[in-house]
Amino acid sequence: MKSTGFEEILSGFSKISPLKFEIWNEKGAVGACDPGDLKGVRQFLPGIAARVYEAEDFRHEETETQDGLFGLPLFDDDIIAGVLLAYFSNAHDNAQVSCPDPEDAKTLLTRIAGMIEERWDMQKESDTLINELDKSYESLHLYSNVATQIKTLNFSSQMILHLLNEIKENIRMDMVFSIMPDRPDYSEIVCKEEVKIKDEKGFVASLIKAVEKSDKALEEGYFIVNNSTDEKLFSKIHKDPFRFLAVKIMHNESFYGWLGIFSFSMDDIIKRSELRLLVSIAEQIGVVIANTDLYHNLEDFGINIVKSLIVTIEAKDVYTGGHSERVHHVSMLIAQEAGISEEDRKVLNWSALLHDVGKIGIPEAILNKPARLSDKEYSIIKGHPLKGAEIISPLDYLAGSIPGVLHHHEAYDGTGYPSRIKGQEIPLFSRIISVADTFDAITSDRAYRKGASFEKGRKIINEVSGTQLDPEMVAVFNKVYKRARTWLAEGQIK
Ligand SMILES: [Fe+2]
Repeated sequence: MKSTGFEEILSGFSKISPLKFEIWNEKGAVGACDPGDLKGVRQFLPGIAARVYEAEDFRHEETETQDGLFGLPLFDDDIIAGVLLAYFSNAHDNAQVSCPDPEDAKTLLTRIAGMIEERWDMQKESDTLINELDKSYESLHLYSNVATQIKTLNFSSQMILHLLNEIKENIRMDMVFSIMPDRPDYSEIVCKEEVKIKDEKGFVASLIKAVEKSDKALEEGYFIVNNSTDEKLFSKIHKDPFRFLAVKIMHNESFYGWLGIFSFSMDDIIKRSELRLLVSIAEQIGVVIANTDLYHNLEDFGINIVKSLIVTIEAKDVYTGGHSERVHHVSMLIAQEAGISEEDRKVLNWSALLHDVGKIGIPEAILNKPARLSDKEYSIIKGHPLKGAEIISPLDYLAGSIPGVLHHHEAYDGTGYPSRIKGQEIPLFSRIISVADTFDAITSDRAYRKGASFEKGRKIINEVSGTQLDPEMVAVFNKVYKRARTWLAEGQIK
């Protein structure tokens, strides 16, 4: 029981009535009380306080020196939280002022008690409100953290771990877990250091097994155990009592697994706010997993399209079978030697494989012509880089590969096509592909001539360094030449 603010009320009433007021609990006076001991009244106060406590009702007592001692219980809900005491205090022995009769005193005390009780209620309400707000803020903070993370399309075990730790810190549980039987990557457990569970994985598995075995309907999508000792299935799992909440991770009809919080501390129960929070996080995880799957399916789908495109080009050009793959392999050797990052190499990977994809639109009669091409035919051939860029442009995740494809026939001195750009203006990936492409063109058989030897090819590459090809990339090619030659000579494709 808090006394804050009551002095004000009580002293206000003391001023307008001949009574002095105090609030007592079982231990004595609460808050400030009158320091004077008017006619020895103080000695009677503990007695009347105790009797009001016992009677749970208004009391009026008289002593030899005191006409009026009054007491009224103060209730907090249905429990006595204290007593309001009042005594007559005619400090100046003014005969005009007399002690109020018990009925009037009771009315006055009841009014004051009402005000005090009202204030307690308000205080409690505001405490609850502050508490709720605190919780909401925590939840909101956690949720905003979580929401930003799970917007991604590449949900990873790292992110799951981070997410579980956030939950653990924010809702102060001993353990937080996500168990997804078909996705071991997303199955993680985070545990407070001081909590000793030998085999965490096995432990969580038995919790979930018990949940699944339980008779309780799981239609709501969650399962709460507030005291494991009350539930036969769960009391066997650990000798100490525990409480936990497991929420299904689902999206549409697909069930992915369980998100759960667990604690050995029995001071509290699983709160509604915690349930709400966990349910919404589990929903988000479900959405992200579904999106990630969809994204991967799309990616696979795209890769398959690309693969079939490559097969189509190779099939059309009878003389250049395996060209795309050889150019790809040599380009990747150069890129690695040049120290290009893994991420950038992924982009180059597709550029190199697809550099000639635009040949799909060129009639086979021109591609396989066993004689020199006419100017018109040559201009059709020259359209293939642009055509290639157009073909892959609808595939979003290949967007980065477009420049490599579009400019793989530019020359370092600016005499190439389609844009006639030169030097460093030419995208690096195109300059790399150019070297590998030229080398393969020289060393493989054509409709009208036999391919040159690898050594001859290397020589020619170095001759056109600085005019057709980027000298820096030619220098790197020279370093990987032996490795390239070995791979090509082993007849991977050739
Ligand atoms: Fe080409």
